[in-house]
Amino acid sequence: MSQKIKIAPSILSADFSILGEEVKNLDMAGADYIHVDVMDGHFVPNITFGPVVIKKIRKYTKLPFDVHLMISPVEKYIKDFADAGADIITIHPEATDNIERCVKTIKSLGKKAGVSLNPKTPISSLEKVIDTLDLILVMSVHPGFAGQSFMPEVLSKVKELRKIINAKGLKTDLEIDGGINFETGALAIKAGADVLVSGTTIFSGKSLKDNIQKLRTCA
Ligand code: DX5
Ligand code: ZN
Repeated sequence: MSQKIKIAPSILSADFSILGEEVKNLDMAGADYIHVDVMDGHFVPNITFGPVVIKKIRKYTKLPFDVHLMISPVEKYIKDFADAGADIITIHPEATDNIERCVKTIKSLGKKAGVSLNPKTPISSLEKVIDTLDLILVMSVHPGFAGQSFMPEVLSKVKELRKIINAKGLKTDLEIDGGINFETGALAIKAGADVLVSGTTIFSGKSLKDNIQKLRTCA
């Protein structure tokens, strides 16, 4: 594969009682981003953590915090996540009535902006912002929980987005999230993804480092 693959471990599968240590271990194991899944029990049927926790774990690594906001309405909290130490802030179009304004807000705070597409959300919902995005996140499960099975039907969306990104000459990260293992990771990379999020696979077995390395080279 020609593209450089980045690995973004999701701390949703980490031991929350030692979250700082887990973040540090992921850094030492070769992670590229720390993927931070924020859930509000409203936009998705699960609750995780908010800016207070992110601020506490910020000092354990210098790696970019790739903050995936599954909260609604999202506008109200963007600044709090920026202040807490997020580097990339990703929102869902369904979580706002003005995606352009959200992306502008994220950028005006000096952060990178991402938009996430649920399995059923079409590429057309990116239309107004695609040229300004730093990251596009394709969900390969319905957001809410770790440990779900990869939905292969999203691969066509990854392929289409890769074509669009390349045709426009954009540098946008094309990230995939949900059910990524060494087999589905390879499919996603072949379809054009260049950032793999993984919780369950990275935190299974004994070695974070081996899992990260194996995912990076799975295609
Ligand atoms: C799902 C989250 C994912 C997920 C990844 O809503 O956005 O980041 O936890 O976990 P695995 O790799 O277990 O599917
Ligand atoms: Zn996520």
